[in-house]
Amino acid sequence: MAIRDIVLLGDPVLRTPAEAVESFDDALRSLVDDMFETMYHAEGVGLAAPQIGLSKRILVVDVRDDDDPAAGRFAVVNPEIVAVSKETEKASEGCLSIPGLEELVERPAVVEVRGFDVRGTPFTVEASELLGRALQHEIDHLDGVLFLDRVSALKRRMLLKKWRKLQDESDA
Ligand code: NI
Repeated sequence: MAIRDIVLLGDPVLRTPAEAVESFDDALRSLVDDMFETMYHAEGVGLAAPQIGLSKRILVVDVRDDDDPAAGRFAVVNPEIVAVSKETEKASEGCLSIPGLEELVERPAVVEVRGFDVRGTPFTVEASELLGRALQHEIDHLDGVLFLDRVSALKRRMLLKKWRKLQDESDA
């Protein structure tokens, strides 16, 4: 296993719709192991393959906590949102590719996601709360969409201004 570099806002791979995975082989399983390790190292709850520079439709999430240690850790290959609730919820989101920024994002409260595990077995998961939000955020990445795109134009301008300031500070 290896920790991969996480690409940051400005890298075109984050804006490129990712390609479907066709081979469920050892290389895929090894890549997914790396994605989990990279996500844990960065202390995130989700990571999509484009965030390590690979334009492939793969995501990993781990939203387990002490109350729920068994559920909420899995990889989804070629995920698709097949149903969303009418009800929406707002909650704060950040992104490992845009460190230092956080904003409230409104999304459907419940989603049904269909996809494949690393062996190519199809499965469906109905998700709400943190898991539902993490899945929607990571699936957005596979379509070249960032949480910045889901806030108001005013908020987005403020966030991008803050991002440029953070980048200037880290360059200095
Ligand atoms: Ni993200």
